Amino acid sequence: MTAITPRVFSGAQPTGNMHLGNYLGALRNWARLQESYDCIYCVVDMHAITVAQDPAVLMQQTREAAAAYIAAGVDPEKSLLFVQSHVPAHAELAWIFNCVARIGWLNRMTQFKDKAGKNREKASVGLYVYPTLMAADILAYRATHVPVGQDQKQHLELTRDIAQKFNTDFGRDYFPIVEPIIQGPGARIMSLRDGTSKMSKSDPSDYSRINLTDDAEAIRLKIKKARTDSEPLPETMAALEGRPEAANLVGIYAALADKGGDDILAEYSGQGFAAFKTALADLAVDKLTPVTETMSRLMADPSYLDSVLARGAEAARAIAAPVLDDVHEIVGFLKR
Ligand code: TRP
Repeated sequence: MTAITPRVFSGAQPTGNMHLGNYLGALRNWARLQESYDCIYCVVDMHAITVAQDPAVLMQQTREAAAAYIAAGVDPEKSLLFVQSHVPAHAELAWIFNCVARIGWLNRMTQFKDKAGKNREKASVGLYVYPTLMAADILAYRATHVPVGQDQKQHLELTRDIAQKFNTDFGRDYFPIVEPIIQGPGARIMSLRDGTSKMSKSDPSDYSRINLTDDAEAIRLKIKKARTDSEPLPETMAALEGRPEAANLVGIYAALADKGGDDILAEYSGQGFAAFKTALADLAVDKLTPVTETMSRLMADPSYLDSVLARGAEAARAIAAPVLDDVHEIVGFLKR
């Protein structure tokens, strides 16, 4: 059986516009990880259908997510980029993991409780076993490092538990115990309309977020209209306590400039938001235009995008197939 080598795996659901929060919180980091790791990046459409999706919209958003990965710097020549449903190994391994994971473990998952809400009886079974599919995504490639946001830490813990239990149950040191790479800019990127809620694809107000499909004019307008307060900027981030909108804009500036918030405030302290917003808009347009332009170009050529995804899926299947063969042998399935 093949040895384990360091490998990054991550994925995002194609369930809404990709926005600045996804870019600064995840995608930009994925692109950077390519410098030090073999990377596999997946658009997880099978996770998306754990809640109802409009089929036509899902297709469009799956392409859009893939385009966003590439526009953010994920290079399909360097990394594997593909769509989850194109590689049956994910579903196959998830079944085996459904038989390894314990009901008690899944019952502790806070994301299920949040997403299922009050009416748990009506949630899909898929939503309940979402974390075992996520473990299968990662372990079908025996990936060792997984960049995720803070909210996915519990799911990664479960992935480690599944790997551990599989290894002990079958007396084989087969699956690696994955390490999370907790990612994100220094601060979370919040809504431009309400500094206390996360920038989100599901916020009804488009002014709450900067989409990776927005052009320069839209980016400028949204920053101009972003909520602020009437105080001037202070000298440190600590002094922005209790001013969530101001802290968010400085945080966005810092993330785009790849600097610390205090460095930014050293430059702008004492100034009001008029000047700061102009500088932020210039910076945002400068940093995001190459991303949004690539994104539009890719979305205008779906056949190119589909061919990239087909190549990615083929390469992914080639890596996952021997892992599934090993797993079949380990659990005692007859050779196919
Ligand atoms: N659950 C992740 C999220 O919502 C998406 C995801 C699915 C994922 N499979 C994964 C992330 C495997 C990392 C690794 O963000």
